[in-house]
Amino acid sequence: MRDIESNRIDLRSDTVTQPTAPMRQAMADAAVGDDVLGDDPTVQRLEAMVAEMCGKEAGLFVPSGTMSNAVALKTHTVPGDEIVTERYSHIYLYEGGGYAALCGSSVALPEGVNGLLTPELVQQAIRKQRGSQSHYPDGSLVCVENTANRGGGTCYEQNVLDAIAEVSKEKNCSTHIDGARIFNASVATKTPLPRMTRDYDSVSICLSKGLGAPVGSVLVGSTEFIEQAHRWRKMFGGGMRQSGILAAAGIYALENNVQRMEEDHRRALTIAQAIDEMDHVSVDLNAVQTNMVYFSANDHSASEVSERMAKAGIDMFDISPTHCRIVTHLHITDEDVKNVIEALSSLH
Ligand SMILES: Cc1ncc(COP(=O)(O)O)c(C=O)c1O
Repeated sequence: MRDIESNRIDLRSDTVTQPTAPMRQAMADAAVGDDVLGDDPTVQRLEAMVAEMCGKEAGLFVPSGTMSNAVALKTHTVPGDEIVTERYSHIYLYEGGGYAALCGSSVALPEGVNGLLTPELVQQAIRKQRGSQSHYPDGSLVCVENTANRGGGTCYEQNVLDAIAEVSKEKNCSTHIDGARIFNASVATKTPLPRMTRDYDSVSICLSKGLGAPVGSVLVGSTEFIEQAHRWRKMFGGGMRQSGILAAAGIYALENNVQRMEEDHRRALTIAQAIDEMDHVSVDLNAVQTNMVYFSANDHSASEVSERMAKAGIDMFDISPTHCRIVTHLHITDEDVKNVIEALSSLH
């Protein structure tokens, strides 16, 4: 049974998840204080919990993944720096150009495969002011996205993540993981988070995607880093008062909704395998590693596909002229998966 009542199958994103009854209860029961004054115990518990889960010293609760990345970028850079991030990364594509407006940084945009960078690409992309007669900006930060959203929800192999951090450090760059869906990556690759993030200076994790909380992200890093990030959060307007009510949803999500992501991954793979069997639609099965399926239809544009699926009660985004994206999450059932496959098969 679906956790919420709806007569539609909403596959647009895992951000559409709504707080379930027990999560709402946890929110109602939360002890709160004034987090701007530093005395909301539930926020403090959440920040310590995520920091510990990632093997970092400290955490900072912020309203969104976009703010978490913006605060991280601002903390790691000074104006005139350059940030290395993949060509289709969320930081570059979908955060309003915050790297430019808020940090005064430029970006270097190596194009990886399925959204994933390699150490070679990163090494080639880092430019240093020093030794360039001041022609270059100063490459000072390398960002990776795990899972890579526009890559299809793909996961980094651990040795690649480690090697990217190594080449970054060799060139004196800080390292940041946009881990909006890092729990999906950890569950899918069976890699403990402290190991995955070991060589990275900061990690941003989202509570409001596959984890199912209504609001919030946590940025983690060293105590010193988070102290500076706290200042930028204030300036960006992200200090919240009785936010323990939101943090409680995050704690509930971390205690209950991590391992169940395996079900989302299994359902995404079932849909992808069914698409692979059909002649009129195509999918790159290798890229289906977590809760996303990017697919195309041979004889229809992506917008035609999403319109026709919407008529069948199934919502999805056309993410490019050719490709639609399906995202599974905690409100999607096996029954829904059957209906989606049926609707896709009659898409001739
Ligand atoms: C990879 C990635 N990073 C960051 C974000 C930003 O999160 P928010 O929508 O909470 O600002 C998203 C949102 O979809 C995302 O997919």
